[in-house]
Amino acid sequence: MTPRIELTDAAPHQTLTLEFPTDGVALRGRVRVPGDKSISHRSLMLGAIAQGETRIQGLLLGEDPRSTAACFQAMGVTLSSLEDEWVTVQGVGLGNLQEPADVLNAGNSGTTLRLMLGLLASHPDRYFAVTGDGSLRSRPMDRVIKPLTQMGAEIWGRQNNRLAPLAVRGKALKPIHYHSPVASAQVKSCILLAGLMTEGDTTVTEPSLSRDHSERMLRAFGANISVDPDTCSVTVHGPATLTGQTVVVPGDISSAAFWLVAGAITPGSDLVIENVGINPTRTGILDALQMMEADIALENPREVTGEPVADLRVRHSRLKAVNLSGDLIPRMIDEVPILAVAALFAEGTTVITDAEELRVKECDRIAVMASQLTHMGARVEEHPDGLTIYGGTPLTGATVDSYTDHRVAMSLAIAALRVKGSMQVLRAEAAAVSYPSFTATLAELCGLSVG
Ligand code: S3P
Repeated sequence: MTPRIELTDAAPHQTLTLEFPTDGVALRGRVRVPGDKSISHRSLMLGAIAQGETRIQGLLLGEDPRSTAACFQAMGVTLSSLEDEWVTVQGVGLGNLQEPADVLNAGNSGTTLRLMLGLLASHPDRYFAVTGDGSLRSRPMDRVIKPLTQMGAEIWGRQNNRLAPLAVRGKALKPIHYHSPVASAQVKSCILLAGLMTEGDTTVTEPSLSRDHSERMLRAFGANISVDPDTCSVTVHGPATLTGQTVVVPGDISSAAFWLVAGAITPGSDLVIENVGINPTRTGILDALQMMEADIALENPREVTGEPVADLRVRHSRLKAVNLSGDLIPRMIDEVPILAVAALFAEGTTVITDAEELRVKECDRIAVMASQLTHMGARVEEHPDGLTIYGGTPLTGATVDSYTDHRVAMSLAIAALRVKGSMQVLRAEAAAVSYPSFTATLAELCGLSVG
């Protein structure tokens, strides 16, 4: 079979057709992935509320950070073009976000809505209405509304204050010590941002450590932050003063994960992914793939504006099944869909547990990955908190659906590298949320062009 990658418009959606020989096409070369999504959001938000100018290089130009940028522009923040090599943000200073004239729209982005809510709730006497797309309007917002309400915030939402659209009346808040039932950086960051303008110590304790980009960046912008790693607690000593900074955004390990798995499962592959953020709160995917005996090497480790970075070299190898659970899961929460794809090609049975958070991501990633991989002939069992994947089952190309979830779309496209016959990924345009050039890069690494 002649390899083929084709993107067809089926307005308003796109269908990605992929055809490869059964052994796949070796992926070779060097690639740079787009900027880290989490760091991109935070650099825009902290830049917006700091005093003075923030300069950002390597900002992710995906739909999610664009949503963040648009929300803050609507509240009086001036940004240069997001296409500039260096994006500049003219900070308005803490407490100075203007009341927007219209509803703020966070699009598909949970990070935009949840983090922003901490800032809105702490702006006394301003009114805000916030919403998002169909996916975001079905995701739980009570996880941030509850702690904010304990701080004295006034927020209203559908289904008994659980779902967006939300209405917010900003208030002067009081500090709390919040014990979060979930390891969630969005919850933690929302409360820390609310604590910035709050007099006193606002502390969040989580059951295991989630990504710590907010802590690192808040410190770099001048906030007084204490971290207790033994209890997974972070405190912001408010009120803070933030000063604009220069932020260089590393490549997103969550995007690099697609090439790590593509290289690991496809015979003959040897590729280097340059300039990837390897913050230890994000490298669960490296640990998991190394446990599976993937051939991955970290080259040229360095630090870029407070975040560790390296080039990652991956070569094809025979993978072994693995059990994944516990504290590892928050460190690879966005990579479980692509890890499930790797498990299809591993020897033995992979069991993923403690991952119930996947059910409230951009889609129910447990149910959707189980159903879509099953369409391809895989043996996958769905559990309330994870998946069991039987490796080595022969797979056949099928028509599968992203359910408008970017990470599902890209994971299914990578699976196509090793299936017999033609794969069609419906609603493939979802990839643009975090990786607009994904299909072009896939083609390039395979030595093809997109038809
Ligand atoms: C993010 C945190 C994670 C992750 C999301 C980005 C962030 O969500 O899934 O893609 O930037 O804080 P949770 O904190 O809800 O687990």
